Amino acid sequence: MSLSRPAEGYGPRPAEGYGPRRGLVPPPLSLMDAEGNFDMRGGLAVKAPPPCTEVAKALCAWLAAIPGVGHARLGGPPSGGEARIELRLGLAPTAGEEAYSIMLAPGGALIEAATTKGLARGAATLWQLALSEGSVIAACRIEDSPRFPWRGFMLDTARHFFPVETIERFLDLAALHRLSVFHWHLTDDQAWRIDLPSLPELAQAGSRRLDMRYNVPVWKAGSYSPLDVRRVVAFASARGIEVVPEIETPGHVTALLASHPELSCLGASAPGEGAPRFEPADSYGVFEDILCAGNDKVFELLEKAFGDLARIFPAAFVHAGGDEAPKTRWMACPRCAGRMRELGLAEDDHEGLQAWFMAKVAAILERHGKRMVGWDEILDSEGWIPPSAVVMSWRGYSGGERAARRGHGVVMCPQTAACYLDHKHLDRIEEPGQLGVCTVRDSWSFEAVPAGLGGEAAARVMGGQGNLWSELVYFGKQAEYMAFPRLCALSEALWVPAQGRDFGDFKERLAVHLGRLAALGVNHYRGPLE
Ligand code: ACM
Ligand code: ZN
Repeated sequence: MSLSRPAEGYGPRPAEGYGPRRGLVPPPLSLMDAEGNFDMRGGLAVKAPPPCTEVAKALCAWLAAIPGVGHARLGGPPSGGEARIELRLGLAPTAGEEAYSIMLAPGGALIEAATTKGLARGAATLWQLALSEGSVIAACRIEDSPRFPWRGFMLDTARHFFPVETIERFLDLAALHRLSVFHWHLTDDQAWRIDLPSLPELAQAGSRRLDMRYNVPVWKAGSYSPLDVRRVVAFASARGIEVVPEIETPGHVTALLASHPELSCLGASAPGEGAPRFEPADSYGVFEDILCAGNDKVFELLEKAFGDLARIFPAAFVHAGGDEAPKTRWMACPRCAGRMRELGLAEDDHEGLQAWFMAKVAAILERHGKRMVGWDEILDSEGWIPPSAVVMSWRGYSGGERAARRGHGVVMCPQTAACYLDHKHLDRIEEPGQLGVCTVRDSWSFEAVPAGLGGEAAARVMGGQGNLWSELVYFGKQAEYMAFPRLCALSEALWVPAQGRDFGDFKERLAVHLGRLAALGVNHYRGPLE
């Protein structure tokens, strides 16, 4: 993933008739009208030699579902009134990994990019045009490229399980908004959702919990097999989306401790006396039992777990958590105290112990060819975390600012500003959500590079993401309500240059874009935007 940025600024002003820039969200850098129409009413023949074929298949699936198109097929010259679309790696690499151009003309359509990711962005823009304009699209030329490479969406599949079909639907919707990363939160106190070949007991004991909040207790269960993961990764890849898995350490591990209670401080410091018992948690919050930093067996397990994860997921990044790890148990644990003495840490420097812990995880991941991503707590102590680690700033901007100044790549997703999709859309009793309010305008106003950051440090901001925690989100349609249209707004905040953004312009385009979401049956929030 490169950190290159396009020159700031917009191209020509909107085409008429479909709202500014045809209602595209995010708007492309440049859109110019051309003569005539691109007419898909006779069906489509899509030419896409390898390696463009997978993106072309996704495009065929999207366009075949547009009313009036009838069919979209891959390969062969057009016949019997079919329109032609060609996907080609025709742009120079200097254009940028995700840059693309689209030429839509009466004689056919051409999408060009330097990479298949760029083609996926172009295909998504064509899909947006077809969703709003139908099977006959006014001709135009589009040139486009994003501001940030990391434009992410996080789904918490631990608090509640979402089937692969729901994840695929979200990947389609993420692709529609030209997002680039799916951050898959796989483990937490309430569940361990990934079947690891080396450690099957983790999901066996950790993926089921008895939900006691109903008059009749209900079993909630579900985990993803390596086959499920391969399916999700392939689906995402065809849409130009990287899948970044997350296994939480050293905290948020109650579901892990269900099969390995001996790895808690209580278990580790009382060997032979019977370890405590843990069940996946049936309540939410921050839990005191975390992985014991003084027990070498913890790192033996993490070596296996992250090794498996690295083999199953092809992306360069793996998220290792690091947030909300209370030090209560570490403070009372003789093994943790021994470790701190061994490391030369002051006896109250438990943040230093956490930084050492996360640095060990980073080293495990590096051995498996991956870069660690961690929540901003990983930098609460200096001197351990390698500069290759990427910091995800969630407790506001300050953790990300500090990380960028220290040389780390940064993904901004401040809970306080704009990026928490589990918050309410409005401060109203009837709105679902938790912990705060984040309006669509808040998300649209998100600026990933804080004002105090400049130069090289600012360039280390790789982008940002929307995080959908699922404590109160039980199924896919509810997840859609929480995500949209805030994710549309965030996609725009991460795509377009900082200059020239205008909320009035966004609102006009969003009015068109909500029609697209409606056409796709998305259960989006419909209330005031601010
Ligand atoms: C977080 O919201 N605990 C990263
Ligand atoms: Zn301990």
